[in-house]
Amino acid sequence: MYKITAYTEDGEAIAFEASATEDLITSALKRDVILLSSCREGGCATCKAECTDGDYELANASVQALPPNEEEDGFVLLCCTYPRSDMSLNLPYTSERISFGKVNTNWQGDIVRVETLSSNVARLVIRPLAPETGAPVRIGFVPGQYFDIEVPGTDVWRSYSMANEPEDAELEFLIRLLPGGFFSDFLLNGAAPGLRLRLRGPSGIFGLRENGLKPRYFVAGGTGLSPVLSMIRHMKTEGHPQETKLFLGVTHGHELFYAKSLRELAASMPNLEVYISVMNGVPSPECTAGTVVDELAKHLKEAKHSPDVYLCGPPGMIDATIAAAWKYGVPPGRVFYEKFVAAGGARAAAE
Ligand SMILES: Cc1cc2nc3c(=O)[nH]c(=O)nc-3n(C[C@H](O)[C@H](O)[C@H](O)COP(=O)(O)OP(=O)(O)OC[C@H]3O[C@@H](n4cnc5c(N)ncnc54)[C@H](O)[C@@H]3O)c2cc1C
Ligand code: FES
Repeated sequence: MYKITAYTEDGEAIAFEASATEDLITSALKRDVILLSSCREGGCATCKAECTDGDYELANASVQALPPNEEEDGFVLLCCTYPRSDMSLNLPYTSERISFGKVNTNWQGDIVRVETLSSNVARLVIRPLAPETGAPVRIGFVPGQYFDIEVPGTDVWRSYSMANEPEDAELEFLIRLLPGGFFSDFLLNGAAPGLRLRLRGPSGIFGLRENGLKPRYFVAGGTGLSPVLSMIRHMKTEGHPQETKLFLGVTHGHELFYAKSLRELAASMPNLEVYISVMNGVPSPECTAGTVVDELAKHLKEAKHSPDVYLCGPPGMIDATIAAAWKYGVPPGRVFYEKFVAAGGARAAAE
């Protein structure tokens, strides 16, 4: 057994014992320390940390989640890291994001609705059930968080962010359909109302940050809308007064979804403006031709007060948006994001 000491951004030290034969996420879980993780197969980078001391072996990390230069600099994916000595780690989040106790891997939920919203987006609605009684239950979460959902009958889990508010009785997910994807195929071919699913969570550190009356700009690539929508819906319910802009971008007109719902949301929330960008085949005059990054840049250039920026979507879109935000003076500490790394896609890149 080795001693692992993990330091959080706010200077807390969390220690746990780890065995050489188990990855660090699993060892921590066995000692009731719930560190952030998602795919648990080296594909999503949610569990990335910096090793500042000690020896380890890294197995099966994908290059997309852990590029070679980061690996050389001592970064690791904890779900793929096997200790070979005592270790010290720096975690890129604060101690409030670590929970202690048994991880809730026992949630179940019944599918209430599954429907396609566009050529590559599905909506999945699940009614969660209490593990002990099987009765419908409301699961508390922070807007921006996600659940892991199992493809029934397999041991394959995928992470999906909630689009609904924590107060709602049902969980709503907006899911991109990827050709040949495990979960995508399940949605298209197996999912149906009444089918019972296993869930674990909620997890994740993406969420609204307190910063007075600073404007909030939200940028979503495709189904990256999900956590962003949860946050904006929550802002509306709680009466948050900040100037709020939502930028949604899709590649093709036939991929667009929720345009009408977003317009309705903006009509009912006076501090919200919605901008939709479509790269190819603009479906209506209410949408702009081009990328969501270009649209954001236009607004940042004209902004009187530098906003906090919240981003969610595929890795390429996030990187381009971060670069634009920095260019127009948004400090790095005020850009918050969640990358939707496709677990299987990352693994394919590694292979
Ligand atoms: C924290 C977090 C939150 C997320 N939230 C959302 C969300 O709200 N909405 C959303 O849409 N997504 C979200 N994602 C992404 C999501 O978890 C899935 O990874 C994604 O939906 C792909 O799942 P899949 O099973 O359909 O495809 P996968 O099975 O992961 O496959 C993805 C693609 O890779 C290809 N592929 C897989 N394996 C191979 C291989 N060996 N060789 C070649 N090609 C291969 C598949 O054909 C497919 O096209 C989130 C990810 C994270 C990390
Ligand atoms: S949880 Fe470790 S890479 Fe996804």
